[in-house]
Amino acid sequence: MIKYKGIISVILTELILCVILTTGCGSTPVVLDNSVSGEEDDGRIVIGFSQLGAESDWRSANSESMRSTFTGEKGYRLIFEDGQQKQSNQMTAIRTFIQQEVDYIVLAPVTETGWENVLEEARKAGIPVILMDRMVDVEDSELYVCHVGSDFELEGAKACEWLKAYVEKKEIDESNLHIANIQGTLGSTAQIGRTKGLSDAAKKYGWDLIAEVPGDFIQAKGREAMEQLLSEYEDINVVYCENDNEAMGAIEAIEAAGRHTGTDIENGDIMIISFDGVNEDALSLVRNKKISCIAECNPDLAPKIETVIKQLEKGETPQKLSYVDEELYSSEEDVLSINAGGREYKVTVLR
Ligand code: AHR
Repeated sequence: MIKYKGIISVILTELILCVILTTGCGSTPVVLDNSVSGEEDDGRIVIGFSQLGAESDWRSANSESMRSTFTGEKGYRLIFEDGQQKQSNQMTAIRTFIQQEVDYIVLAPVTETGWENVLEEARKAGIPVILMDRMVDVEDSELYVCHVGSDFELEGAKACEWLKAYVEKKEIDESNLHIANIQGTLGSTAQIGRTKGLSDAAKKYGWDLIAEVPGDFIQAKGREAMEQLLSEYEDINVVYCENDNEAMGAIEAIEAAGRHTGTDIENGDIMIISFDGVNEDALSLVRNKKISCIAECNPDLAPKIETVIKQLEKGETPQKLSYVDEELYSSEEDVLSINAGGREYKVTVLR
């Protein structure tokens, strides 16, 4: 009886929340994707996951990492909410998780600022918040348990060191480099870090960074941004795309304009440098020499999140910041390793 009462009360709570969220206050309705991994949640660890959206192949792979890790069979119930690139949707999701009294909240924040109030609400409710992928910019780091993700600035530095090593090897005059940056979602940790990686390298090596334009990590926007760049700047010969989907869009625009992508920039090629490398679509562009170098961004973060949850279940304190290992991909054989952040990284040459 108690069990049925529990189930009925959960269903009623979710129905009421659903009505509030889809009709409330004239705001944009939140699309709920309550993918529940298990059929019953008795005794299961309940995780509310606020994913920021579905803008890229990386994001789909990251969502899949969460779904395949936190399964009902392993004793979890995963409540998945897609924020559709809106911080306000993510805040609503977190507040819903608090009302649902989930055991843990996993947050992949779209941008860094503005999280204090909602994280404070989670803290008051006694629900640990684990940050995944991107960071939040809050003064009180006790508002979250820990962060599991990538060192985006290091990724940027690695990609730039590959470019530096390549032009040196080929004896290309660096004053002939004219670089444009198609940035990711402005204000996101991935954009902030990768943009800084490039601007630091440009300052250090005296490179000509001619433009920075937003592409939101989306293929169609990468194409639009590249069309705009080609119409404004004749001399662009390197495009630093802050993810592979933008790179795919940029390649479409370059080819539609009758230009060629590749490393032969002294003879009219436009070199593409990119980030992610999550699937064969992107890696085949490296093999076909359309993308010259990809700095990997690893989306398979859920196993590390699971380790954190297991530690918390045992009353242990997880490491505050933990970065995943990532490599570089290229099909050029001239650069086999680079140095960045005081470490040597091997380049995986794809054939
Ligand atoms: O935060 C990780 C970045 O977000 C990935 O590089 C990009 O593809 C995604 O949208």
